[in-house]
Amino acid sequence: MKKLVKKAVNQLGYELVKRDSSPVVKGDFWEDWFYKYPSELTDAYVFNRMQLSQVEDWLDEEIHRDSYWGYGVPDYLMNDRYKYNLNFNPFELTYTDLLCMLGRKMGEVKYLEIGVSAGKNFYQMYNSLGKSGLYGMDIESINPTIEKFLSGKSKTWEAGEEVDFRNGKNEMVKKRYSKHEYNFPSSKNKVTYLSGDKFDSLLWEQLAGVQFNLIFSDAFHRPASIKDEYEKLKEYDLIHKADFIMAWDDMESVEMQLAFQQICEDMCKNVFPGRQASFKVYDLHGTYAGKHTIGLFWTA
Ligand SMILES: C[S@@+](CC[C@H](N)C(=O)[O-])C[C@H]1O[C@@H](n2cnc3c(N)ncnc32)[C@H](O)[C@@H]1O
Repeated sequence: MKKLVKKAVNQLGYELVKRDSSPVVKGDFWEDWFYKYPSELTDAYVFNRMQLSQVEDWLDEEIHRDSYWGYGVPDYLMNDRYKYNLNFNPFELTYTDLLCMLGRKMGEVKYLEIGVSAGKNFYQMYNSLGKSGLYGMDIESINPTIEKFLSGKSKTWEAGEEVDFRNGKNEMVKKRYSKHEYNFPSSKNKVTYLSGDKFDSLLWEQLAGVQFNLIFSDAFHRPASIKDEYEKLKEYDLIHKADFIMAWDDMESVEMQLAFQQICEDMCKNVFPGRQASFKVYDLHGTYAGKHTIGLFWTA
């Protein structure tokens, strides 16, 4: 009986955990990062606020309404009644400022963002980094607001068949997966946008041969989902074996923290054996929607 309940719960994308299981270490962002890299983080903050001020409206209402899942942006974040709405640029340091600072320290970056949404984070990443390859993955098409800053658009792949799935309104809809490539000439970056369901291997096959050193997982915030992503990263050999950093959003629940812990422990043991690596969760602002709890894994 216990097994059946466990299986049913797993199929829904959840996991049964003991309430007294210890969650991962909560890090102090100021001690671990700001006091170590005050000028680098301040530079990233100032640069990002300048880039954000170039965009007034992040997501056109019609595009939001006609999308599959509303770009993951709930209606209440599309208007300005809530302070941290999509168009509000936070004064606080954000996870994007941290990711940009970490990426800049790495130099040439291969960055993957799983769940791009309107692209408020992705846009700051391709502005901030230089001579890098930035890959975004989302069920939605690239948001025209961030696409207009890119040049040299070319469609480099399209799936043979359309896929049926349910949209946010529970209607059956069709989608043909695709891959588009762009240039961001001012910083010599290459941008690749994969549009499709990130649970489908077809999408991951398109990434084969790339080794990412900076990854942000921010799509479907369930334990089974982030574990599936991690398996795909290993299966397609997408993790760079030198310096490597990965972040996950929405680590508020014990269930997500336990999945994060399992992934990080597996990475320490099987991907980076003998290397010094750390992982912690931090409370940090997002580019919208207020404070988030993010998980961070990094090799020393
Ligand atoms: C929270 S938003 C991402 C926010 C973005 N990373 C940022 O910081 O601005 C989540 C995104 O994940 C996408 N998503 C959710 N499930 C997905 C799936 N199975 N395949 C592809 N994309 C998915 C949604 O379409 C949505 O745009």
